[in-house]
Amino acid sequence: MRGASIVMRSLFEPRAIAVIGASGNPEKIGHRIVENIVRSGYGGGVFPINPRGGEILGLKAYADLSDVEGEIDVAVIAIPAGRVLSAVEACGAAGVKHLVVITSGFSEVGDLETERRIVRAAREHGMRLLGPNIFGIYSAASSLDATFGPGGITPGPVAIITQSGALGIAMIGKTATESVGLSALVSVGNKADVDEADLLEYLASDERTRAILMYVEGVKDGERLQGTLAEVTRNKPVVVIKSGRSKRGSMAAASHTGSLAGTDEVFDSVMRQAGVLRAESIQEAFSWVRYLASTPLPPGDEAVIVTNGGGIGVMATDACEKHGVLLYDDQAVLADAFSGVMPDFGSSKNPVDLTGQATAEDYARSLDAVLAEDRMHAAIALYCETALFDTGRFADLLRDVYARYRDRKPIVFSLFGGERIDAVIRDLRGEGIPVFGDVYEAVSALGALYRVRRRIREAPEEAEPSGLPIDEIREIFRTARDDGRAFLLAPEAAQVAAHLGLDMPRSIVAHNLDEAVEAAGEIGYPVVMKIVSKDIVHKSDAGGVALDLENEEEIVDAYQAILRSCRARAPDAVIEGVEVVEMVRSGVETIVGARQDPSFGPVVMFGLGGIYVEVMKDVSFRAAPIGRSAARAMISDLRSYPLLLGVRGESRKDIDAIAAVVSKLSHLIDRCREIADIEVNPLIVYDRGEGTRAVDMRILIKQPKGGERT
Ligand code: COA
Repeated sequence: MRGASIVMRSLFEPRAIAVIGASGNPEKIGHRIVENIVRSGYGGGVFPINPRGGEILGLKAYADLSDVEGEIDVAVIAIPAGRVLSAVEACGAAGVKHLVVITSGFSEVGDLETERRIVRAAREHGMRLLGPNIFGIYSAASSLDATFGPGGITPGPVAIITQSGALGIAMIGKTATESVGLSALVSVGNKADVDEADLLEYLASDERTRAILMYVEGVKDGERLQGTLAEVTRNKPVVVIKSGRSKRGSMAAASHTGSLAGTDEVFDSVMRQAGVLRAESIQEAFSWVRYLASTPLPPGDEAVIVTNGGGIGVMATDACEKHGVLLYDDQAVLADAFSGVMPDFGSSKNPVDLTGQATAEDYARSLDAVLAEDRMHAAIALYCETALFDTGRFADLLRDVYARYRDRKPIVFSLFGGERIDAVIRDLRGEGIPVFGDVYEAVSALGALYRVRRRIREAPEEAEPSGLPIDEIREIFRTARDDGRAFLLAPEAAQVAAHLGLDMPRSIVAHNLDEAVEAAGEIGYPVVMKIVSKDIVHKSDAGGVALDLENEEEIVDAYQAILRSCRARAPDAVIEGVEVVEMVRSGVETIVGARQDPSFGPVVMFGLGGIYVEVMKDVSFRAAPIGRSAARAMISDLRSYPLLLGVRGESRKDIDAIAAVVSKLSHLIDRCREIADIEVNPLIVYDRGEGTRAVDMRILIKQPKGGERT
């Protein structure tokens, strides 16, 4: 990660910058960029490039890049699309390190070819390329605003990476009204070369950046992005907003895993796995990053609500439950902490209700009591406007409490009332104090902070060494591929299952009645019998399946019935015999799948529901590979998880055994990229300690491209 961050440093902290397409015409983008660079106070060299030469905004303009003496780290390109390639070549010749290509008109309008040529040319000269189709880059590290945005960006602790240009420019205005200071603002546009992962690597090591907000439309190298995010979030919070909850990617999927792996479901799970906070709206994302960037982590798990209104206290309690904020519950300590500071008629139970008769002073004293008490780790301060309220005095009290504890404990304020309260909210927010007009918004920000705390404290998940006989398994895939098949035959899949240590039902193919009886004896009753004929695809429809055969007599009857029925219904079918299969006892039906996701590479899925899985859609995903504890967390993500824990007197199911299967499949799909899709369905789960049975396993493999052999 460090290597890449050094490369990216010269993009964020260039010693000199050229603007190709700089113009004296204030209407032009090339003019605006030079203007912003100059106004932002950038201290390095600025070289406007324009064929006319002369002067632009008081700076000497060069007719040609080659006329500039000295090294240029960044060249911003703002000339029409048709001229970009030759400008890139010229930058390469001049030893430029980074290109910031503002110009539109490439892959976003269907011209992927020219875009690729430009990237190739950049790479050939060892340059990295940001864009094309972007509004530029702002970096507080070098006081550089190389965008064509409105200017006037306030430096601060939040970095924004955005795929949408228009939204990015609008965000500049939003940061001003929301008093959010920026450490960086980068537009990534078409992401032809530099992507979020490259930028995150720099921002992770940038001390100014305390929280990162990403607006994402589509993911290109999801596997790398996931890995980078998983590292970054162990040190700094990352909030993501993603648009496009499209299911298109899953339409043509050939399996349950595929059809359930809508792009959004996979994105959501993978982001959560990487410790990223996903916001539902821009407002929520702003509210979170603003709070996360300016608030210390809570020293412990438990928060206290202080309110002067009962109803709003209940709402906050609900919000705490929703956002994973625990409430401090030791009544004796609470009573002690509030004795003498709250009115007699109040309640010291959490939420601590001072009632509407409390004065602003009572309120401030109570907050002090929470924040000074080591056993209480965060304060949620709710205030409803009352007649006993002196606005100016109240605002000062809040300022004072906040100033004394801002570096030690998290506080969120939520104030509710009329115009006077709105004015207080506006003033305090402008000063960077976390004041909200809505209880849910306040608690959601605190909830985000708690999620960051949990992430930072989370033990790193060691992906277990798989210990799988990968070579032997790949040999089976090779045989299928040599055969020109994209799927494994049942006996091949059974071999893979055996290598994975999955417990599949025993099965023997019998060619006559005597062999069938012998096979059943060997397997042990009860058994299932199925017709074996490549001409009979739908075995049950042809009467070719008999379940739950308990003894020899039933085998004899069923064997004859199966043959009679199949011969009658499919007279031309060549019948090879019958398959005698161990009858698997019933349990909870689950599904475990893994596939190569188009965005994130290998992913693993777990779901409950057997044949109902597509109706229930109760599934969770993770980027593969994962160890057993991550697999257990993934299992617990399901809505129907309580079924596995045991409900209505049923005993707990063997969750560890499921986690082992999920982890093994995740390692397999990660190591064997030739697997397109693998699915164990159903995986029957028994009571704790009794394991699982894989009733069926299907494996699809990719065909090698152009004679490639793996
Ligand atoms: N080297 C240096 N300067 C050059 C040049 C070259 N090879 N080729 C042209 N120029 C000069 C032009 O002479 C002009 O300067 P002038 O005003 O002094 O004549 C200037 O560069 C700009 O060129 P022009 O042809 O006037 O283009 P433009 O300003 O109308 O448009 C873009 C250029 C890049 C802005 C336009 O092509 C574009 O892509 N716009 C969309 C940008 C966008 O929305 N990006 C995404 C945002 S999210």
